[in-house]
Amino acid sequence: MSGADKDDKPSGMRKGLTSYGDAGFSLFLRKAFIKGMGYTDEALDRPIIGIVDTGSGFNACHGNMAELVEAAKRGIMLAGALPVAFPTISVHESFSNPTSMFLRNLMSMDTEEMIRAQPMDAVVMIGGCDKTVPAQLMGAGSAGLPAIQLVTGPMLTGSHRGQKVGACTDCRRFWAAYRAGEVDDQEIADVNDQLVPGTGTCGVMGTASTMAMVTEALGMMLPGGSTAPAVSADRRRIAEQTGKIAVQMAAQNLTPDKIMTRAAFKNALTVLLAIGGSTNGLIHLSAIAGRMGIQIDLAEFDAIGRNIPVLVDLKPSGQHYMQDLHAAGGLVTVLRELRPYLDLDCLTVTGRTLGEEIDAAPASFAQDIVTPRDKPIYHQGGMAVLTGNLAPGGAIIKQSAASPDLMVHRGRAVVFTSIEDMAARVDHPDLDVTKDDILVLQNAGPKGAPGMPEAGYMPIPRKIAAQGVKDMVRISDARMSGTASGTIVLHVTPESAQGGPLGLVRDGDEIELDVTARKITLHVDEAELDQRRKDFVAPDHVGSDRGYKKLFLDSVLQADGGCDFDFLQPTSIRSNAGYGSKS
Ligand code: FES
Repeated sequence: MSGADKDDKPSGMRKGLTSYGDAGFSLFLRKAFIKGMGYTDEALDRPIIGIVDTGSGFNACHGNMAELVEAAKRGIMLAGALPVAFPTISVHESFSNPTSMFLRNLMSMDTEEMIRAQPMDAVVMIGGCDKTVPAQLMGAGSAGLPAIQLVTGPMLTGSHRGQKVGACTDCRRFWAAYRAGEVDDQEIADVNDQLVPGTGTCGVMGTASTMAMVTEALGMMLPGGSTAPAVSADRRRIAEQTGKIAVQMAAQNLTPDKIMTRAAFKNALTVLLAIGGSTNGLIHLSAIAGRMGIQIDLAEFDAIGRNIPVLVDLKPSGQHYMQDLHAAGGLVTVLRELRPYLDLDCLTVTGRTLGEEIDAAPASFAQDIVTPRDKPIYHQGGMAVLTGNLAPGGAIIKQSAASPDLMVHRGRAVVFTSIEDMAARVDHPDLDVTKDDILVLQNAGPKGAPGMPEAGYMPIPRKIAAQGVKDMVRISDARMSGTASGTIVLHVTPESAQGGPLGLVRDGDEIELDVTARKITLHVDEAELDQRRKDFVAPDHVGSDRGYKKLFLDSVLQADGGCDFDFLQPTSIRSNAGYGSKS
C-alpha cells in the first residue's frame, strides 16, 4: 500500500499530518511515535480503520466494548487493513447530569473532530446507549469519512418472582406501583437487582433499540446488525463483519452522504413508526438529517404514520423484549412487511441496496413478534404530530403507548412551572387536582431545563395514583424515555422558555387534546394571552455565563431542529429553519 488512494490523496498514516511546516518531518515524527507501540512499517503502510471506543466505567450499556473492539479489529485485519481504536466521551442515560441530551452534541463534536484530526480511511463507531448512536452519526455525517455504525446490543431480560423483567419499561412500571402503594419496600429493593441483569442497552423498544433499528434502516449499519443481544456470539460476529465492511467502504470511498439521503431518512422514519419507536428517535433523526442538509417535515412524518401501522409487539407499545425480536429474525422481518412503503434503491454500507439486502437475508419463518400489516399491534404509526395554538411548531404524542379513552379529552390545566416545582408539589395532599385534569410542565425544553430532559413522563400525583388511576393527559416541552408509556404530549414547540404558548398556560385554563384531529388547543382568548406574553420572563440558569452550558444555551435549536447546535448544521439549511432556529 503506497499511502495514497487512487486519486493520489494521502491515505493511511499519511493523512492529515500535524502542521510543522515540513510534511516529511511530520510523517517521520508520527511514525516514530506510533512505532513506540511496536508497529512495523508494513503494518503502518496499510489502510487505517479507526474504531471509536466508548467504553466507560459509568456506562453499563457499553460493558461489552472491549470484546467488540477486539472482534472489529479481527474483521479489519482479515480484510488487510490496520485497526486503530481511540476513545471519545461516552454518555449513559442515568449518569448524565442534568440529562444525556445536554451532552449529545458535545459527543457529536468530539466524534467529528477526532475522526477528522486523526489519520484513518474509514471508521467503525461503537455506541449503544441512547444518545451515543445519534451523536456518532451526527459527527460522522459532518466529518464526511466512510463510517459504519456498530451497537453494543440489547441486554437480556431478568426474572423477578416468576415474571420476566427488563429495563426500563419495567423499572417505570414497578416504580409507579411502589408510588401507588401496590409494591412494598422489600419488593422494590428485590426487583432493583433484576431489572438490569447484565450488560447491554435497554431490552425494550426504548431509544437505544429504536436508534439501532432506524440506523440499520438508514443503511449505516451492517444489515442484521441492530438486534443481537450484547452478550451473544451473534453480536461478536456482527462486530467482525462490521470491521471487514469498513475496509471495503474505505476502498470504495463510500461516504455518509451517499447513504444518508432524503429517501434513506424517509425509510428510517417509516421504520420508526412501524416499530413503535421512541419519540426521541424523531429528534435524533432530525438532527442527523440536519447535518446532511436535509430537513425532516413533521407534516410528512405524520402523513406516513397514517399508513404505517405498528407491527412490532415489544414493550412499551406491546409485550415482548428485544431478544424476542432478534429470535424472530430482527429488522428484516419488519422490512419485509414494509417493503411496499420503502425506497429499495437506497444504498447501504455494504455497497448493495436495501432491496438487495432484504432479498439476500435468511428466509422468513413463522413467528409472533412482528405482525402482518393486516393484523397490527396498533392501527397507525406509533407517533402522531399535533399542532394548534398551544404548539404552533408542533408537538408529538406516542399514540401507540397512550390510553384510548384519553385520546380525545378536554380538561383543566394543573401547571408546574419547572421540574423542581413539579417535584416539590406533585405529591402534596393539598394539590388541587382530579383525574380528569391535564398536567402541564413548563420550562423543561432545550433551553428551559436546559437540555430537554426526559421529564415528560410526569408522575401521576400520589393521591390520584392511590385511587388506581394509571394515566392522565400530560403536556410538556420535555422529552420522554422511549421505555415509558401514557397519554403524554411532548416536544411542544416553541418551548415555554423561548416564549412559546406553553409558558403562558395558567392553573385552571381549559386545554383540549384531540389526537384524531391532530389538534392541541388552549382555550384562552388572544387578548388574555397577549397580556400574559407581556409578563413573560425567560428562566435564568446558574452557570450559564461560561463554558459548555453557555455554548449550549446560545446555540441549541428547538425540537424540530433536532436540538442540534445551529453552527453545526450546514449553512444551506440554517436560513430555512422554522422553530428549529434558536430565536
Ligand atoms: Fe443505556 Fe437504556 S440506559 S440504553
